[in-house]
Amino acid sequence: MPIQSTPNIWHNGELIPWEKANIHVMSHVVHYGSSVFEGIRCYTQGEGRGATAGVFRLREHMQRFLDSARIYRMDLPYTLEQLEAAVVEVVEANGVVPCYIRPVAFRGYGEIGVNPLKSPVEVYVANFPWGKYVPGTAGADVCVSSWNRLAPNTMPSLAKAGANYMNSQLIRMEAEVNGYSEGIALDTNGYLSEGSGENLFLVRGGTLYTSPLANSVLNGITRDSILVLARQLGIPIVEQALPREMLYICDEAFFTGTAVEVTHLRSVDRILVGDGTMGPVTRALHDAYFAVLSGQQPDRFHWLTPVKVREAVAA
Ligand SMILES: Cc1ncc(COP(=O)(O)O)c(C=O)c1O
Repeated sequence: MPIQSTPNIWHNGELIPWEKANIHVMSHVVHYGSSVFEGIRCYTQGEGRGATAGVFRLREHMQRFLDSARIYRMDLPYTLEQLEAAVVEVVEANGVVPCYIRPVAFRGYGEIGVNPLKSPVEVYVANFPWGKYVPGTAGADVCVSSWNRLAPNTMPSLAKAGANYMNSQLIRMEAEVNGYSEGIALDTNGYLSEGSGENLFLVRGGTLYTSPLANSVLNGITRDSILVLARQLGIPIVEQALPREMLYICDEAFFTGTAVEVTHLRSVDRILVGDGTMGPVTRALHDAYFAVLSGQQPDRFHWLTPVKVREAVAA
Protein backbone atom coordinates (compact mmCIF):
# COMPACT_ATOMS: atom_id res chain seq x y z
CA MET A 1 0.00 0.00 0.00
CA PRO A 2 1.54 3.38 -0.94
CA ILE A 3 2.28 5.71 1.98
CA GLN A 4 -0.30 8.49 2.28
CA SER A 5 1.61 11.63 3.10
CA THR A 6 0.63 14.11 5.82
CA PRO A 7 1.67 17.79 5.98
CA ASN A 8 4.37 17.62 8.70
CA ILE A 9 7.18 15.45 10.01
CA TRP A 10 8.93 16.09 13.33
CA HIS A 11 12.71 16.37 12.83
CA ASN A 12 15.21 17.00 15.65
CA GLY A 13 12.78 19.15 17.61
CA GLU A 14 10.79 20.96 14.93
CA LEU A 15 8.06 20.28 12.40
CA ILE A 16 9.17 20.31 8.77
CA PRO A 17 7.14 19.71 5.59
CA TRP A 18 6.79 16.03 4.59
CA GLU A 19 8.60 16.54 1.27
CA LYS A 20 11.59 18.21 2.98
CA ALA A 21 12.33 15.17 5.17
CA ASN A 22 15.21 13.91 3.01
CA ILE A 23 18.66 12.42 3.70
CA HIS A 24 21.93 12.22 1.75
CA VAL A 25 22.69 8.98 -0.10
CA MET A 26 26.03 8.81 1.74
CA SER A 27 24.35 8.75 5.16
CA HIS A 28 25.68 5.94 7.38
CA VAL A 29 22.24 4.31 7.67
CA VAL A 30 21.96 3.78 3.91
CA HIS A 31 25.11 1.65 3.86
CA TYR A 32 25.12 -0.09 7.23
CA GLY A 33 21.49 -0.25 8.35
CA SER A 34 22.17 1.88 11.44
CA SER A 35 18.62 2.80 12.45
CA VAL A 36 16.16 2.06 15.23
CA PHE A 37 12.47 2.74 15.00
CA GLU A 38 8.99 2.28 16.43
CA GLY A 39 5.54 1.58 15.09
CA ILE A 40 2.65 3.00 17.12
CA ARG A 41 -1.07 3.38 16.51
CA CYS A 42 -3.36 6.22 17.45
CA TYR A 43 -6.99 5.17 17.79
CA THR A 44 -10.22 7.10 17.95
CA GLN A 45 -12.79 6.61 20.68
CA GLY A 46 -16.26 7.41 19.44
CA GLU A 47 -17.13 9.29 16.27
CA GLY A 48 -17.80 12.80 15.01
CA ARG A 49 -17.90 15.79 17.36
CA GLY A 50 -17.63 14.10 20.77
CA ALA A 51 -14.87 11.72 19.61
CA THR A 52 -11.51 11.58 21.28
CA ALA A 53 -8.24 10.12 20.06
CA GLY A 54 -5.51 8.36 21.98
CA VAL A 55 -2.04 7.03 21.20
CA PHE A 56 -1.74 3.41 22.32
CA ARG A 57 0.93 2.74 24.96
CA LEU A 58 3.02 5.71 23.90
CA ARG A 59 5.30 5.54 26.93
CA GLU A 60 6.17 1.87 26.41
CA HIS A 61 6.87 2.44 22.71
CA MET A 62 9.14 5.42 23.34
CA GLN A 63 10.92 3.54 26.14
CA ARG A 64 11.59 0.69 23.70
CA PHE A 65 12.84 3.29 21.20
CA LEU A 66 15.30 4.59 23.80
CA ASP A 67 16.28 1.01 24.71
CA SER A 68 16.94 0.11 21.06
CA ALA A 69 19.12 3.22 20.69
CA ARG A 70 20.98 2.41 23.90
CA ILE A 71 21.84 -1.10 22.72
CA TYR A 72 23.47 0.50 19.64
CA ARG A 73 25.25 3.24 21.65
CA MET A 74 23.14 5.80 19.84
CA ASP A 75 22.69 8.77 22.19
CA LEU A 76 19.30 10.29 21.50
CA PRO A 77 19.40 13.91 22.72
CA TYR A 78 15.80 13.68 23.97
CA THR A 79 14.18 12.41 27.15
CA LEU A 80 11.32 9.98 27.24
CA GLU A 81 8.94 12.87 27.96
CA GLN A 82 10.29 14.92 25.04
CA LEU A 83 9.87 11.99 22.66
CA GLU A 84 6.31 11.43 23.86
CA ALA A 85 5.61 15.14 23.34
CA ALA A 86 7.08 14.95 19.82
CA VAL A 87 4.60 12.21 18.90
CA VAL A 88 1.66 14.16 20.30
CA GLU A 89 2.85 17.32 18.52
CA VAL A 90 3.07 15.75 15.08
CA VAL A 91 -0.24 13.87 15.41
CA GLU A 92 -2.04 17.03 16.53
CA ALA A 93 -0.39 19.15 13.82
CA ASN A 94 -1.36 16.74 11.06
CA GLY A 95 -4.86 16.14 12.42
CA VAL A 96 -5.09 12.64 10.87
CA VAL A 97 -6.60 10.01 13.17
CA PRO A 98 -6.74 7.05 13.37
CA CYS A 99 -3.16 6.80 12.20
CA TYR A 100 0.11 4.92 12.36
CA ILE A 101 3.10 6.69 13.89
CA ARG A 102 6.69 5.99 12.88
CA PRO A 103 9.50 7.40 15.05
CA VAL A 104 12.93 6.62 13.57
CA ALA A 105 16.47 7.47 14.67
CA PHE A 106 19.50 6.81 12.50
CA ARG A 107 23.12 7.62 11.83
CA GLY A 108 23.23 10.37 9.25
CA TYR A 109 25.85 11.98 7.04
CA GLY A 110 29.29 11.95 8.65
CA GLU A 111 31.95 9.31 7.99
CA ILE A 112 31.91 6.37 5.60
CA GLY A 113 33.50 3.68 7.84
CA VAL A 114 31.52 1.01 9.69
CA ASN A 115 32.05 2.68 13.08
CA PRO A 116 28.91 4.81 13.46
CA LEU A 117 30.07 6.98 16.32
CA LYS A 118 31.27 9.86 14.12
CA SER A 119 28.00 10.14 12.19
CA PRO A 120 25.28 12.41 13.61
CA VAL A 121 22.08 10.94 15.05
CA GLU A 122 18.92 12.16 13.34
CA VAL A 123 15.47 11.69 14.89
CA TYR A 124 12.23 11.90 12.93
CA VAL A 125 8.58 11.18 13.78
CA ALA A 126 6.08 10.77 10.96
CA ASN A 127 2.42 9.76 11.03
CA PHE A 128 0.01 8.69 8.33
CA PRO A 129 -3.21 6.70 7.84
CA TRP A 130 -2.63 2.92 7.64
CA GLY A 131 -5.10 0.02 7.73
CA LYS A 132 -4.75 -3.71 8.39
CA TYR A 133 -1.40 -5.35 7.60
CA VAL A 134 -2.18 -9.06 7.14
CA PRO A 135 -5.01 -9.19 4.62
CA GLY A 136 -8.35 -10.78 5.40
CA THR A 137 -10.58 -10.88 8.47
CA ALA A 138 -11.17 -14.57 7.74
CA GLY A 139 -7.78 -15.32 9.27
CA ALA A 140 -4.28 -15.56 7.89
CA ASP A 141 -2.91 -18.53 5.97
CA VAL A 142 0.72 -18.71 7.02
CA CYS A 143 3.72 -21.02 6.69
CA VAL A 144 6.78 -21.93 8.70
CA SER A 145 9.66 -20.07 7.10
CA SER A 146 12.78 -21.74 5.82
CA TRP A 147 14.62 -18.77 7.35
CA ASN A 148 15.50 -18.76 11.05
CA ARG A 149 15.11 -15.77 13.30
CA LEU A 150 18.25 -13.94 14.47
CA ALA A 151 20.62 -16.12 16.48
CA PRO A 152 21.36 -15.04 20.06
CA ASN A 153 24.33 -12.71 20.32
CA THR A 154 24.30 -11.80 16.63
CA MET A 155 21.69 -9.12 16.00
CA PRO A 156 19.93 -8.25 19.28
CA SER A 157 16.25 -9.16 18.92
CA LEU A 158 15.17 -6.83 21.71
CA ALA A 159 16.35 -3.84 19.68
CA LYS A 160 13.82 -2.76 17.10
CA ALA A 161 16.58 -1.97 14.62
CA GLY A 162 16.11 -1.41 10.91
CA ALA A 163 18.80 -4.00 10.13
CA ASN A 164 16.78 -6.77 11.83
CA TYR A 165 14.18 -6.31 9.15
CA MET A 166 16.46 -7.72 6.46
CA ASN A 167 15.74 -11.06 8.14
CA SER A 168 12.06 -10.14 8.32
CA GLN A 169 12.05 -9.27 4.62
CA LEU A 170 13.41 -12.73 3.72
CA ILE A 171 10.66 -14.36 5.80
CA ARG A 172 7.91 -12.20 4.39
CA MET A 173 8.99 -12.40 0.73
CA GLU A 174 9.33 -16.17 0.83
CA ALA A 175 5.86 -16.48 2.39
CA GLU A 176 4.19 -14.23 -0.16
CA VAL A 177 6.00 -15.74 -3.16
CA ASN A 178 4.66 -19.13 -2.02
CA GLY A 179 1.09 -17.87 -1.63
CA TYR A 180 0.96 -17.34 2.15
CA SER A 181 0.26 -14.04 3.86
CA GLU A 182 3.05 -14.39 6.43
CA GLY A 183 5.82 -16.67 7.64
CA ILE A 184 6.57 -17.90 11.15
CA ALA A 185 10.28 -18.20 11.84
CA LEU A 186 11.90 -20.70 14.18
CA ASP A 187 14.85 -19.65 16.29
CA THR A 188 18.26 -21.18 15.58
CA ASN A 189 17.47 -24.07 17.98
CA GLY A 190 14.31 -24.93 16.06
CA TYR A 191 11.83 -23.52 18.59
CA LEU A 192 8.97 -21.23 17.59
CA SER A 193 10.00 -17.60 17.48
CA GLU A 194 7.73 -15.07 15.72
CA GLY A 195 6.44 -13.75 12.42
CA SER A 196 8.34 -11.22 10.31
CA GLY A 197 6.67 -8.41 12.24
CA GLU A 198 4.41 -10.09 14.80
CA ASN A 199 4.53 -12.08 18.01
CA LEU A 200 2.86 -15.48 18.05
CA PHE A 201 0.34 -16.96 20.50
CA LEU A 202 -1.13 -20.47 20.55
CA VAL A 203 -4.04 -21.88 22.54
CA ARG A 204 -4.43 -25.52 23.51
CA GLY A 205 -6.89 -26.86 26.05
CA GLY A 206 -7.79 -23.32 27.14
CA THR A 207 -4.15 -22.40 27.99
CA LEU A 208 -2.41 -19.55 26.22
CA TYR A 209 1.14 -20.27 25.04
CA THR A 210 3.77 -17.84 23.80
CA SER A 211 7.52 -17.94 23.31
CA PRO A 212 9.67 -16.16 25.92
CA LEU A 213 12.03 -13.32 24.98
CA ALA A 214 14.95 -15.78 24.86
CA ASN A 215 13.54 -17.32 21.65
CA SER A 216 14.67 -14.32 19.55
CA VAL A 217 11.40 -12.40 19.69
CA LEU A 218 10.78 -8.68 19.89
CA ASN A 219 9.43 -7.59 23.25
CA GLY A 220 6.09 -6.75 21.63
CA ILE A 221 3.90 -4.17 23.28
CA THR A 222 0.76 -5.83 21.91
CA ARG A 223 2.15 -9.13 23.25
CA ASP A 224 2.44 -7.55 26.67
CA SER A 225 -1.08 -6.08 26.41
CA ILE A 226 -2.50 -9.51 25.55
CA LEU A 227 -0.70 -11.06 28.52
CA VAL A 228 -2.17 -8.36 30.80
CA LEU A 229 -5.68 -8.96 29.43
CA ALA A 230 -5.32 -12.75 29.65
CA ARG A 231 -4.36 -12.47 33.33
CA GLN A 232 -7.41 -10.28 33.91
CA LEU A 233 -9.66 -12.77 32.14
CA GLY A 234 -8.21 -15.64 34.19
CA ILE A 235 -6.76 -17.41 31.14
CA PRO A 236 -3.79 -19.62 32.13
CA ILE A 237 -0.54 -18.48 30.49
CA VAL A 238 2.52 -20.56 29.67
CA GLU A 239 5.57 -18.67 28.45
CA GLN A 240 8.09 -21.31 27.40
CA ALA A 241 10.09 -22.58 24.43
CA LEU A 242 7.59 -24.17 22.05
CA PRO A 243 8.21 -26.91 19.50
CA ARG A 244 7.17 -26.30 15.89
CA GLU A 245 4.60 -29.08 15.93
CA MET A 246 2.50 -27.17 18.50
CA LEU A 247 1.40 -25.15 15.46
CA TYR A 248 -0.29 -28.20 13.94
CA ILE A 249 -2.05 -29.48 17.07
CA CYS A 250 -3.12 -26.26 18.79
CA ASP A 251 -6.79 -25.28 18.94
CA GLU A 252 -6.17 -21.61 18.13
CA ALA A 253 -3.30 -19.42 17.00
CA PHE A 254 -2.94 -15.69 16.51
CA PHE A 255 -0.44 -12.99 15.75
CA THR A 256 -0.12 -9.79 17.75
CA GLY A 257 1.52 -6.52 16.77
CA THR A 258 0.86 -2.85 16.36
CA ALA A 259 0.33 -3.35 12.64
CA VAL A 260 -1.66 -6.64 12.70
CA GLU A 261 -3.29 -5.94 16.09
CA VAL A 262 -4.81 -9.36 16.92
CA THR A 263 -5.09 -11.50 13.78
CA HIS A 264 -6.07 -15.15 14.02
CA LEU A 265 -4.34 -17.80 11.93
CA ARG A 266 -6.62 -19.87 9.74
CA SER A 267 -3.98 -22.34 8.65
CA VAL A 268 -0.29 -23.09 9.05
CA ASP A 269 1.44 -24.95 6.19
CA ARG A 270 -2.06 -25.62 4.77
CA ILE A 271 -3.11 -27.43 7.97
CA LEU A 272 -6.22 -25.82 9.45
CA VAL A 273 -5.83 -24.33 12.92
CA GLY A 274 -8.84 -25.78 14.81
CA ASP A 275 -11.74 -25.35 12.39
CA GLY A 276 -10.08 -22.30 10.82
CA THR A 277 -12.31 -19.73 12.49
CA MET A 278 -11.38 -17.41 15.34
CA GLY A 279 -11.58 -19.54 18.50
CA PRO A 280 -13.12 -18.51 21.83
CA VAL A 281 -9.91 -17.58 23.66
CA THR A 282 -8.64 -15.51 20.73
CA ARG A 283 -12.08 -13.91 20.45
CA ALA A 284 -12.16 -12.98 24.14
CA LEU A 285 -8.69 -11.42 23.97
CA HIS A 286 -9.35 -9.70 20.64
CA ASP A 287 -12.57 -8.19 21.95
CA ALA A 288 -11.02 -7.12 25.26
CA TYR A 289 -8.15 -5.46 23.35
CA PHE A 290 -10.46 -3.57 20.98
CA ALA A 291 -12.82 -2.57 23.80
CA VAL A 292 -9.98 -0.55 25.35
CA LEU A 293 -8.80 0.97 22.07
CA SER A 294 -12.24 1.96 20.89
CA GLY A 295 -13.31 3.42 24.23
CA GLN A 296 -16.10 0.83 24.74
CA GLN A 297 -14.35 0.00 28.02
CA PRO A 298 -12.78 2.60 30.30
CA ASP A 299 -9.02 2.90 29.86
CA ARG A 300 -8.29 1.12 33.16
CA PHE A 301 -4.63 0.47 32.34
CA HIS A 302 -3.92 4.06 31.18
CA TRP A 303 -2.90 2.77 27.78
CA LEU A 304 -4.17 5.77 25.80
CA THR A 305 -2.41 9.15 25.67
CA PRO A 306 -4.98 11.72 24.54
CA VAL A 307 -4.34 13.84 21.45
CA LYS A 308 -6.46 16.82 20.43
CA VAL A 309 -7.93 16.52 16.98
CA ARG A 310 -10.52 18.58 15.15
CA GLU A 311 -12.50 15.60 13.94
CA ALA A 312 -12.08 11.88 14.39
CA VAL A 313 -13.48 9.10 12.23
CA ALA A 314 -14.41 5.65 13.56
CA ALA A 315 -11.40 3.34 14.01
C1 LIG B 1 9.70 -8.62 14.61
C2 LIG B 1 8.52 -8.10 15.34
N1 LIG B 1 7.98 -8.86 16.31
C3 LIG B 1 6.90 -8.45 17.01
C4 LIG B 1 6.31 -7.23 16.74
C5 LIG B 1 5.13 -6.78 17.55
O1 LIG B 1 5.52 -5.74 18.41
P1 LIG B 1 4.47 -4.62 18.89
O2 LIG B 1 3.32 -5.34 19.47
O3 LIG B 1 5.22 -3.83 19.88
O4 LIG B 1 4.10 -3.85 17.68
C6 LIG B 1 6.84 -6.42 15.74
C7 LIG B 1 6.25 -5.12 15.44
O5 LIG B 1 6.73 -4.11 15.90
C8 LIG B 1 7.97 -6.86 15.03
O6 LIG B 1 8.49 -6.12 14.06
